[in-house]
Amino acid sequence: MKEYKNVTIFEHPLIRHKIAILRNKDTGTKDFRELVEEITALMTFECLKDVPTRKVMVATPLEKTEQTIVIENSVAVVPVLRAGLGMVNGVHRLFPTAKVGHIGMYRDEETLEPKEYYCKLPDGIEDKITIILDPMLATGGSACAAIELLKKRGCSDIRLMNIIAAPVGVETVAEKYPDVKVFIACMDRQLNEHGYILPGLGDAGDRLFGTK
Ligand code: PRP
Ligand code: URA
Repeated sequence: MKEYKNVTIFEHPLIRHKIAILRNKDTGTKDFRELVEEITALMTFECLKDVPTRKVMVATPLEKTEQTIVIENSVAVVPVLRAGLGMVNGVHRLFPTAKVGHIGMYRDEETLEPKEYYCKLPDGIEDKITIILDPMLATGGSACAAIELLKKRGCSDIRLMNIIAAPVGVETVAEKYPDVKVFIACMDRQLNEHGYILPGLGDAGDRLFGTK
């Protein structure tokens, strides 16, 4: 795959280790959910490394010192329902004040086109770093639709966080939206004829919520 300036792919062994367990078909719902959360927290560390900060004075038991803290109302996350919900707590572990918007979308099983069924975004989201959360980036259709919604709403700093991606999905998003920073925990080989990622992990929503 071509290299894109706006795409970060994680090569960290701790993330790789967790993804290996996540993929295993014998990993149950509880462990799956915890792993998604942990991987998201590790990715958040990198994704928000340029979060705005401000200076404050802190009194230690010994003296006053100028310190740096993050600006708490500067971030929003937007999970794509359903599977993106599993990533929200992972961001909140590191950035508890992130506001949460929701975009409901499912892929039509025949056409693989995303169908939007819900959208509720926090007031003032256009002034925040906005991170779209979805564990899977397959054709890229859902991610592009979510980005379009946020752009229409006036968001200008949009980031996309996916745990597993197919090359075609990354290429689609990276080329269409060079201004969107994309964070991928692991790049997989290809899609199968039903639009599932190989080797992948199956249906992320079903595995998170135990629906199959
Ligand atoms: C999955 C996944 C993404 C989408 C990715 O959701 O969570 O939203 O597919 O595929 P794409 O890149 O080809 O658009 P799904 O439609 O299965 O809905 P669900 O989360 O409700 O199960
Ligand atoms: N959505 C999933 O949940 N899994 C895939 O492999 C592709 C899309």
